[in-house]
Amino acid sequence: MAFSTLSLILLLPLVSGQVFHWGPCPEPSVQLGFDIHKYLGRWFEIEKIPASFERGKCIEANYSLRPDGTIKVLNSEFRRGKVRSIEGTAVVQDIRQPAKLGVSFSYFTPYTPYWVLYTDYVNLAVVYSCTDVLRLFHVDFAWILGRARALSVVTTNSAKMVFSNNNIDVSKMISTDQQGCDK
Ligand SMILES: *[C@@H]1O[C@H](CO)[C@@H](O)[C@H](O)[C@H]1NC(C)=O
Repeated sequence: MAFSTLSLILLLPLVSGQVFHWGPCPEPSVQLGFDIHKYLGRWFEIEKIPASFERGKCIEANYSLRPDGTIKVLNSEFRRGKVRSIEGTAVVQDIRQPAKLGVSFSYFTPYTPYWVLYTDYVNLAVVYSCTDVLRLFHVDFAWILGRARALSVVTTNSAKMVFSNNNIDVSKMISTDQQGCDK
């Protein structure tokens, strides 16, 4: 255990400075009175952390309700000449915290957090995911989603304010290519 902790610490700078941060996850405030029904449907990825090495474009998600009450998550992107999609499941894990969803893309993997920090349902959603590792550091993901393929600079900046007001670093956020997607 001590050895693996040590080797993780030593490896840390190699993994990726933008995903790993020292200390536990921040505890951001989430959307009050979150209404999943208004949130369903199609969202386009406008910006995100982290940047992935193999970058797809035209990244979008479609959330819909299944008969069993879980939420079907269909993510798709255009990468290396093809539309690639992956289906997952989102659930509200505690009904007292409806904006804190968990998402899993396989029966065998645990639910990872999907917290809606802010949404107006019709334009913008600000989503955050963070997992503590050994209580020493955390790995996080952040997304700015739009109902359209593009958001105004004002709207994007207001989304970044939501993150930074919650001590989430957005300096490494990159925008997703949504050009030429509707051909
Ligand atoms: C989203 O998913 C629902 C349910 O599967 C489907 O009816 C709808 O057409 C999908 N929308 C898009 C834009 O793919």
